[in-house]
Amino acid sequence: MEERDLKTILDWRNRDDARVWFKTSDKLTFDSHLAWYKRYLQKEDDLFFLVEADGRPVGQCGIYDIDHNAGSAEIGRFLVAPEMAGNGYIKRSCSELVRFGTRVLKLPYVFLEVMEQNTRAIELYTRCGFVEEGRSDGMIRMGFGRDRAS
Ligand SMILES: CC(C)(COP(=O)(O)OP(=O)(O)OC[C@H]1O[C@@H](n2cnc3c(N)ncnc32)[C@H](O)[C@@H]1OP(=O)(O)O)[C@@H](O)C(=O)NCCC(=O)NCCS
Repeated sequence: MEERDLKTILDWRNRDDARVWFKTSDKLTFDSHLAWYKRYLQKEDDLFFLVEADGRPVGQCGIYDIDHNAGSAEIGRFLVAPEMAGNGYIKRSCSELVRFGTRVLKLPYVFLEVMEQNTRAIELYTRCGFVEEGRSDGMIRMGFGRDRAS
């Protein structure tokens, strides 16, 4: 993800049917989005990806809170460009993030959180091999890999 992509992803993120699925569900201003991105650039445990198909941006995803001592990381920030929805790009991104986390970063365990009403996302994560581990405050935690729920 580069600074020049921020306007594109902010437009996806601020759509009413997308933002409601994120913990911070208010509409974001460009300035707050840019400030968030600059803080992200300082981090060493966070990788934020633009998903491209045929050279065009089609979505976003990330892996963060990468903790080599604990052997875990969280994945998320999944979002598709509205006109590209349903083409499998995000499912493939999810699988690639799992592969990256477990094989490249060599983390035994990857997890995510999803709102319990977000059936589309839950189905996608289930198809990528994630298993529900618990629920609280309307959120479901799902894990992939060994040491689940530890
Ligand atoms: C969740 C989201 C990223 C999925 O993007 P997408 O382009 O629809 O997903 P993909 O095409 O890559 O994945 C397809 C998979 O999603 C699931 N899926 C897609 N549409 C679905 C539907 N209507 N009902 C249930 N599952 C559905 C299926 O598992 C499907 O796999 P299949 O084709 O093998 O059946 C997209 O809906 C989005 O941006 N939502 C708003 C933000 C969001 O909710 N992010 C996740 C926060 S945890």
